[in-house]
Amino acid sequence: MAFNRSELRDKILYLKRQRKAVILAHNYQLGEVQDIADFVGDSLELSQNAAKTDAEVIVFCGVLFMAETASIICPDKTVLLPDINAGCPLADMITAESLRERKRELPEALVVCYINSSAEVKAESDVCCTSANGGKIVESLDAKEILFVPDQYLGHYISTKTDKKMSLWPGFCPTHVRIQPPDITRLKQDYPQAKVIVHPECKLEVIALADEVLSTSGMCRFAQRTEAKEIIVGTEIGLIHRLKKENPGKRFIPASERAICPTMKLITLENILWALEEMAYEVKVPEEIRLKAKVAVDRMLEVV
Ligand code: 13P
Repeated sequence: MAFNRSELRDKILYLKRQRKAVILAHNYQLGEVQDIADFVGDSLELSQNAAKTDAEVIVFCGVLFMAETASIICPDKTVLLPDINAGCPLADMITAESLRERKRELPEALVVCYINSSAEVKAESDVCCTSANGGKIVESLDAKEILFVPDQYLGHYISTKTDKKMSLWPGFCPTHVRIQPPDITRLKQDYPQAKVIVHPECKLEVIALADEVLSTSGMCRFAQRTEAKEIIVGTEIGLIHRLKKENPGKRFIPASERAICPTMKLITLENILWALEEMAYEVKVPEEIRLKAKVAVDRMLEVV
């Protein structure tokens, strides 16, 4: 028998208490998933939150690398991903083996890996970063040369803010590259007073048109502090839900209606309930990989 939305929410909340679980959701999740979560945030905030929760179970409403990061940080907790197919195509653009090969070509370089990467890739890296702290992490390193993986656009953006030599892995986020410069220029004509905020995973030509380049939660903070009443938002459209909810007097215009991450949208109220009922899908990083990956994640969390 199908439940209505309010019955479904009540069942999730009941079972969440029974299981001593916490629901963490990324800013790109469906609106009703964000609304039922205990915490909604960007990748950095979600890992900081996982690090300090005293819940026994973490239901991760996001994609696989996020659940893996929680498992790396808290091995004694049960981390559940409600749909095991919720992967990240950007994270899949590099393997540990291909990274090892590249490291052999650049023996002097320290490896900075974007958090959008597998646990195995983190285990091969010196330090991890997110879109919120990439510049700070690179600057904190005592090295002249950096190999940045796997997002070339975030890597390039960071390289414009540092004197360090950066080699970039050619990965990209298929959702963010859908946002094209003409999308922004057209919207700037329609909304001449609007501020343009974009995610650093966007193409260089898109970043060049922006007033601010921010992580998803950075965008939320900007939306609250700006005097602007109209904001063009260059990231996955799931963020618009939170922006509207927190800023009822302002107008948010997606830079592209096509910027939808299909795997983020695999998480639903139905499979959150199922995850709590079945205690599945459990994401557990093997101990050998976890210990190595944890060094890179801990180094990041020490810097920010
Ligand atoms: P944030 O850390 O800015 O939320 O990045 C999200 C992300 O994974 C983009 O693909």
